[in-house]
This record gives sequence, C-alpha cells and structure tokens, in this order.
Amino acid sequence: MRLRLLAAAVLAAAIPGIAPAQDARRGADLAAQTCVACHGDNGRSQTEDIPSLAGQPADFITLQMILFRERIRQMPVMNDFAANMPDRDIEDLAAFFASLPPGPPEDRRPRDAALFAAGQALIGPRHCGTCHVSDFGGRAQIPRIAAQREEFLARAMVEYREGRRAGADTQMNGAVVGLSNAEIAAIAHYLAQLD
Ligand code: HEC
Ligand code: HEC
Repeated sequence: MRLRLLAAAVLAAAIPGIAPAQDARRGADLAAQTCVACHGDNGRSQTEDIPSLAGQPADFITLQMILFRERIRQMPVMNDFAANMPDRDIEDLAAFFASLPPGPPEDRRPRDAALFAAGQALIGPRHCGTCHVSDFGGRAQIPRIAAQREEFLARAMVEYREGRRAGADTQMNGAVVGLSNAEIAAIAHYLAQLD
C-alpha cells in the first residue's frame, strides 16, 4: 500500500503543470558534489559493482532514490546519500543522469561469443524485452539494462532470485525465478555487450 502511494507520488510529479519542470543543469551541479565520484563523470561507472546511471529513465532514478530514502531498498551507502534529500533534488538529479548518453564502461571486457549466444537464447523466452523494451533501454520506472556493468547486472539478478533485493514490486523476482548462476552470468554478459 505504502509502495503504491510512493509510485503514485512519482507519477504525479511527472505530470507537467502539477510539478515544476525538472532542472537537469541544477542536477549536474548537485551530482558533481557527490554522485559522479562513484557513478562516473559521464554517468558511466568505472567502478566494480556500482551501476552506470547515464541514460536511465528519469522516473526509474526518481523512484529508486525514493526507495533508498525511505530505506525500502536497503544499501547503506545509498541510504545515507538519499536520507532527507528533498524531492526537488532527486528529480533534478534524475533529469541530469537521464540526459547523459548511455554507453558501456571503459573497462568492459571483450565479447565471449559462446556466452553472448547463450545469454541471447535465454533472454528471448523470458520476455525480458516486454518490460525493458526490445533494445533493453528501459522506459518510465523500468531500468535500462543494455550496456550496464556486467557484474552489477549479475549481482542484481541473483539478489532478486534470492528475494534479497527490494524493488517497487515483485515483478523481477518472478522474471528470474529458476535461473542458475551460470544462466544469470550468460544473460548479464549478453546485456553488458549491447550498446
Ligand atoms: C560511495 C559511492 C556512491 C556514491 C557517492 C553514490 N552512489 Fe549511488 N550507488 C552506489 C552503489 C554501490 C549502488 C548499487 C546499490 C545496489 O546494488 O543495491 C548505487 C545505486 C544507485 C542507484 C540505483 C541504480 C540502479 O541501477 O539500480 C541510483 C539511482 C543511484 N545510486 C543514484 C545516486 C545519486 C543520485 C548519487 C548522488 C546523490 C549517488 N548515487 C551517489 C554507490 C554510490
Ligand atoms: C514484468 C516486467 C519485467 C520483466 C518481464 C523483467 N523485468 Fe527486469 N525489472 C523490472 C522493473 C520494474 C525493474 C526495476 C526494479 C524494481 O523497482 O522492482 C527491473 C529491474 C531489473 C534489473 C536491475 C537493474 C538495475 O539497474 O537496478 C535487472 C538486471 C533486470 N531487471 C533484468 C531483467 C531480465 C534479465 C529479465 C528477463 C529474464 C527481466 N528483467 C524481466 C521489470 C521487469
């Protein structure tokens, strides 16, 4: 119930006329103070286990920041950064990162053809593209997963499978049910190789 209210609040904030326009330039100034040290100057993370934010849908970033702020999605570092953060800061930060062109991190490893093919074969029947969009670029509250850091994608999927990662709902827990660690590794490699 609480989550549904949060989601409704995020949607309301996205309706023009009700909320002030998001200010990506202000978001850039806010991000420069803290976020880019971990998430990368251009929004592409060069650090293991830290996700890239460039080109993520603004609604996804906004919702995840609210989940961190309310400590529904638990991760001490992000819970601390989001603590007491005003909605306006969150929306401006989201507008900034959403405006950056997405792309792979500089340290992306070369493609392993067999692993890539295995990931591609697994992902089709699971209809991941129905929600994440056919190019896996995401939309609204659904994240971009194309060109994301490989080890981050794999860890996220393992955490969903084991019920250790809280999102806005349980859609992802269902999407990865029954996948082995090897299958998750193949899917993560496939997605990380996309541009
Ligand atoms: C000290 C490093 C650090 C800093 C600084 C930091 N983050 Fe993060 N952030 C992380 C890590 C690590 C994760 C991954 C959390 C997880 O896997 O649950 C994360 C996750 C996120 C996510 C979720 C992304 C996703 O794909 O699931 C968002 C959104 C985010 N951070 C935004 C921000 C913003 C905005 C700032 C600045 C106010 C910021 N972060 C500052 C380390 C950091
Ligand atoms: C019914 C819609 C739906 C389907 C199908 C779906 N996803 Fe998701 N996925 C989401 C949503 C929504 C999120 C955002 C997390 C949240 O708040 O619950 C997400 C999050 C993720 C994340 C975490 C990304 C991040 O940056 O935090 C990964 C990785 C992911 N999905 C991969 C997949 C893969 C691989 C498949 C297919 C096996 C899949 N998803 C199928 C809706 C879906």
